[in-house]
Amino acid sequence: MIEVSREEITIDVETIKAVKGTRDLLPPETERWNLVESVTREVFRTYNFQEIRTPIFEKTELFARGVGADTDIVAKEMYTWEDQSRGGDNVAAGRQSLTLRPENTAGVVRAYIEHRLWERGLNKFYYIGPQFRRERPQKGRYRQFFQIGAEVIGPPPSGSESPARDAELLELLASLLDRLGIQQWRLELNSIGCPADRARYDQVLRQALQPVAANLCADCQRRAQTNPLRVFDCKVPADQAIIETLPRISQFLDEPCRKHFDEVREILASVGVPYTLNDRLVRGLDYYTRTAFEFTHGALGAQNAILGGGRYDGLSEALGGPQAPGIGFAIGEDRLVMSLGQSAATDGAKLDVYIAPLGTGMNKEAARLARELRRHNLVVEVGEESFRLKKSLETASKQGARYALIAGENELSTGVFALKKLASGEQRSVSRDRLLAEIQG
Ligand code: HAM
Repeated sequence: MIEVSREEITIDVETIKAVKGTRDLLPPETERWNLVESVTREVFRTYNFQEIRTPIFEKTELFARGVGADTDIVAKEMYTWEDQSRGGDNVAAGRQSLTLRPENTAGVVRAYIEHRLWERGLNKFYYIGPQFRRERPQKGRYRQFFQIGAEVIGPPPSGSESPARDAELLELLASLLDRLGIQQWRLELNSIGCPADRARYDQVLRQALQPVAANLCADCQRRAQTNPLRVFDCKVPADQAIIETLPRISQFLDEPCRKHFDEVREILASVGVPYTLNDRLVRGLDYYTRTAFEFTHGALGAQNAILGGGRYDGLSEALGGPQAPGIGFAIGEDRLVMSLGQSAATDGAKLDVYIAPLGTGMNKEAARLARELRRHNLVVEVGEESFRLKKSLETASKQGARYALIAGENELSTGVFALKKLASGEQRSVSRDRLLAEIQG
């Protein structure tokens, strides 16, 4: 038998790398992702949320109308293409504009309307999946990233409007972060009012921007014309002193919005969820109304928002649906995993048994043994058929197995197997019908 040394393998053609802004999630880090997802699913279950999975691409118009054509996401960051396939909705032209979803709220609300989910009594949804934005990649910011999100929608005409819904979601998030052992989180809270408040505010803000806009960055000069509220999304350091002087939406809330926000805060205080008011927080998507929030984390650096969300009472109607107020959030899963710290590190599956097939024709016996042991939930690895016992045992140790099980001709004919406990080096002869009990014991 010829043994090939792994070191001899060389790669001399130009290698293909992952696309900029995307990344491979490798073991054992994937274990941390699984941990986050299983804890989160469990928390969602206890708050009576159910999973929804919407397509990864949608019609571009969904995001233009839902998220807002003037937002950075829609104006600059979407992966959009003209789809040529036959049978599109735009039959006359034979093509339609499609987009990889940059976020999932618009898709969930579309599905809610399309399937009339309120008729089935469904109104609390969660999702876990990839989103795509053509942003400048940096630590914590990727072009394909993952969100874990939740949405409470309707039922029509005014369900989910209650401030109790806002507070429940925020309390859920605080509990989830605590349960994952994430410390140093900070909840920043604002209310950006209803459309009527914003119309009044818009006028005042435009006036305030007029004399100073020329001193702001090019993006802000454009925003001052198209959608002045977006000026507060600006991250350019030189602009901050001017932005600091601008009037805030909090001064323009009408009575019902003010009361709504007061009640959200009262419930938060009564359940003991700490928050900080931030009247500059306006969020980068146009569908928001009233409550807006972000959770930040001290150790994340520039991209410190672990999650963001808020209320979107007009989104269903903007997408052609019934009046169905909504509120939700999306956690950046990449950032959540980063903020977990090493305490939550997992080593991956622990290998219980390494089966070493010793001699020609032993693969079959090894496969039978592995099948039996795995049926009892043991983690089993089957080695390469070999004549070299020492090498097999070395491999078993390298892989961190608890036991090495030798499957050779002798064992097969006598029905008694050599089982070696690798930590102590102790080796015992065990009959086939005792193997499972010995390994589990
Ligand atoms: P968002 O603030 O755009 O909101 O995104 C939510 C979170 O996704 C951010 O706080 C961040 O953690 C993560 N995130 C965003 N962009 C990136 C990126 N390029 N790389 C890594 N992580 C990123 C939304 O998407 C709304 N749909 C949230 C929502 C749900 N509002 C109501 N319901």
